[in-house]
Amino acid sequence: MTVRRLAEIQPESFAFTPENDAFARNEIAKYPPGRQASAVIALLWRAQQQSGYWLPRPAIEKVAEMLALPVMRVLEVATFYTMFNLSPVGRHHVQLCGTTPCMLCGAEAIKEVCRSVIGNERHVTADGAFSWVEVECLGACCNAPMVQINDDYYEDLTPESFAKLLDDLAAGRPVRTGSQTGRVGSEPTGGLTSLTTLYGVDGHSGPGVAGAAPAANDDAPAVLSPEGDGAVEARAVAEEADIKATLATLPKDATAEQKANAVGKRPAGLPAPRGVVGDDLQRIKGIGPTNEQRLRELGIFHFDQIAGWTREEIRWVGTYLSFPGRIDREQWVGQAANLAAGGVGLKDVGVQTPDKT
Ligand code: FES
Repeated sequence: MTVRRLAEIQPESFAFTPENDAFARNEIAKYPPGRQASAVIALLWRAQQQSGYWLPRPAIEKVAEMLALPVMRVLEVATFYTMFNLSPVGRHHVQLCGTTPCMLCGAEAIKEVCRSVIGNERHVTADGAFSWVEVECLGACCNAPMVQINDDYYEDLTPESFAKLLDDLAAGRPVRTGSQTGRVGSEPTGGLTSLTTLYGVDGHSGPGVAGAAPAANDDAPAVLSPEGDGAVEARAVAEEADIKATLATLPKDATAEQKANAVGKRPAGLPAPRGVVGDDLQRIKGIGPTNEQRLRELGIFHFDQIAGWTREEIRWVGTYLSFPGRIDREQWVGQAANLAAGGVGLKDVGVQTPDKT
């Protein structure tokens, strides 16, 4: 860990946009009286997003004011966590994991690419496109070496694939997030070694998960495979690129909903779950506690709702949740159709992909 200082040049003031201000006040209200300081990371993160992925001093002071904390307490948090950038960064900010598993799998060579293409650590390229910093473990050790660029992970890197990735980003070409070798989650690099009979001997085009039901829309993958399918992956890559191209035309401070509205159509939600609680959406591989909560906030409580998503709705939800393409890759719609019919999802049959969110 190196010394982390605030940027020498600072804006004069900072104010949350009305939407971000509402978000901040909602976060603060989640904590019992006297514990509002617990919202500090959420507020700093939103302030950073609003400020072009770095934290100006006035933003830190604003957060301290909202939480009734001494500025020093908020500074301690902002300077401790490397997720907070204390000076301006490039439009593509690379966080390179240099911790032991990544280091043993070739992070040093990736670092050399950063140095040769971008320059020294924390340097922002003249065109403002890139900057990089070395960070501690980002929790994707199984797919080492890896980097995070803005909000996306890029895993199973080689110096060649990483250089190409930077080249594609610079040129505005579509890039693939996640594993650069195509493996799903942290599955074995050589393909499945167990549970292969569930999907047929080749592990790609088997009969689907037991109990599978056709998905409710024609676009959805009705047959699940642990590695996805080439057509689904190709569509995910193309769609991700298409969505990112549209999002690039929006103002930098566009809200998640504005972004989603620009690329798709919000699915109809329910005012409340049918019955006391809804379905356990976390049975769908790819949905963790955070995404389940966000889906519930959209009125999505049941497998059959997800199973019925149209292409426009998949685009909307994927963009709203900040991961266009992932719903296809992880086959949420197909899994939901199976689960709605009383069958199982990929998580139930042991396809081990830890949910990040
Ligand atoms: S060591 Fe690199 S992600 Fe964990």
